[in-house]
Amino acid sequence: METTTLGRGGPVVSRAGLGLMGMSGIYGQADDQESIATIRAAIDAGITLLDTGDFYGMGHNELLLRDALRRGIARDSVFIQVKFGGQRDPSGAFVGQDASPAMVKSSLAYTLTRLGTDYVDLYQPARLDPRVPIEDTVGAVAEMIAAGYVRYLGLSEMGVGTIRRAHAVHPVAALQIEYSLMSRGIERKILPAVRELGIGVTAYGILSRGLLSSGTARLAAGDPRARFPRFRAENHARNLELLAALEAIADAKEVTAAQLAIAWVASRGDDIIPLIGTKRRDRLAEALHALDLTLSADDLAAIEAAVPADAVAGDRYEAAQVAMLDSER
Ligand SMILES: NC(=O)c1ccc[n+]([C@@H]2O[C@H](COP(=O)([O-])OP(=O)(O)OC[C@H]3O[C@@H](n4cnc5c(N)ncnc54)[C@H](OP(=O)(O)O)[C@@H]3O)[C@@H](O)[C@H]2O)c1
Repeated sequence: METTTLGRGGPVVSRAGLGLMGMSGIYGQADDQESIATIRAAIDAGITLLDTGDFYGMGHNELLLRDALRRGIARDSVFIQVKFGGQRDPSGAFVGQDASPAMVKSSLAYTLTRLGTDYVDLYQPARLDPRVPIEDTVGAVAEMIAAGYVRYLGLSEMGVGTIRRAHAVHPVAALQIEYSLMSRGIERKILPAVRELGIGVTAYGILSRGLLSSGTARLAAGDPRARFPRFRAENHARNLELLAALEAIADAKEVTAAQLAIAWVASRGDDIIPLIGTKRRDRLAEALHALDLTLSADDLAAIEAAVPADAVAGDRYEAAQVAMLDSER
């Protein structure tokens, strides 16, 4: 596994990371044993960057990660990044954001206990809390860095103005944001700004929640993604046409559409770290092969023609969730 730095002069991490969210039932049922085996297989393959959030399964995701790491994996051989701020009730419903300084410190204390570690490598508010100036949120993270409980500051789904304000308080190592063939929004303003500031990107949704793979051509009954605009009937048919065009290129290269989509994100620059989002070892293996692909200029042109920027039908989130995205303002 190649390595890169998270941001200019930042910590060395693997060229791709593993996103653990799906292991806590976000996209349907998950099997804990397979999830743990997937985390361990990723580490065995050289992945060091592991992405979780305290609200993924209300702590379940962090406990799972602790179980995976417990069996003989040195703490300093992995880079654990944790999102906080998303508030959920006992039924799992999202009930808002809280990124106040007190919540930063309290959430971190619970996270450290669940993970069974003394520090997290990167701590990041999942969304901008509209009631709390970003300076206050990142100021509290900076205090936790000074105290040794956190190593680096990250942000998630934030726009240029907020990123600059945060960076002025404490250097931001990485921005986590959705980026894929079907979600190119960051190319306009956010990517140039983070590159200017030397901030890395951990890219999520690189398969547009699985849409850029043959696996979700048909969603199982009850799959929560059916609510996402891109999977709704009126848009899904159009998006499957884009997928079919990508599959035609993939077939010719004897790879899968998912592999092309992942290789495309990786080809955007060493400062962009794709987060592989799977809870299964077979799909992890498929994704890892994608990192070995080199896309020629002809390949990239063909991919662009198959899935042009802005060709996707439907927003990446439901309207109420888009409204919470500072990155979309
Ligand atoms: N900061 C944020 O706001 C934010 C938001 C969302 C996610 N994230 C992070 O980013 C990570 C990745 O996000 P994501 O899960 O939405 O990304 P994604 O890679 O676009 O989608 C993952 C989905 O695709 C499926 N999939 C993966 N490989 C596949 C294949 N080869 N064929 C068919 N289906 C396949 C997965 O199912 P299986 O698991 O069954 O393979 C899963 O349902 C998350 O785990 C989380 O850590 C961050």
